[in-house]
Amino acid sequence: MRPHALALSRFAGGLALVLALVLAACSLRRDPPPGANGQEIYAYQNCHNCHGRLGEGSSLGPPLRNLAQIWKLDDLTDYLADPRGWIERVPRLKKLDEHFSGNMGSYANLDREQRRVLAAWLLEL
Ligand code: HEC
Repeated sequence: MRPHALALSRFAGGLALVLALVLAACSLRRDPPPGANGQEIYAYQNCHNCHGRLGEGSSLGPPLRNLAQIWKLDDLTDYLADPRGWIERVPRLKKLDEHFSGNMGSYANLDREQRRVLAAWLLEL
């Protein structure tokens, strides 16, 4: 390759990397504003990337419907901070986990009150 072409291709490679990083950053969680309701926290934290805009589910995550038949508010609040721990303890969640290639991360970045507000909203879907 001629030196110019080489420099150009390095530049293009660098540009592609920067673009990829910017795109990745766009899908990152954003802090919900104080007093945000459950649906807003869901949106700010990008839960919809895997669970769909209103919890209808996708190829990356299960639907979040009728959760009130399964979850108590306190437990769901805890779960959001430590999904992996719950998956290890609860066979139903383990099965669900095996069905999906990706994993749900911890939302311990939210404080307990925010997780509780989010969980309460999920229980009404
Ligand atoms: C990267 C994709 C992904 C993201 C983002 C994600 N989840 Fe999940 N979620 C999953 C998967 C996959 C499971 C199934 C268990 C597992 O593998 O972790 C799951 C399981 C769950 C469950 C348990 C469902 C049940 O049947 O009991 C709840 C509730 C839940 N997610 C809520 C949320 C909320 C709320 C957010 C945002 C704060 C969120 N998830 C973000 C992928 C995701």
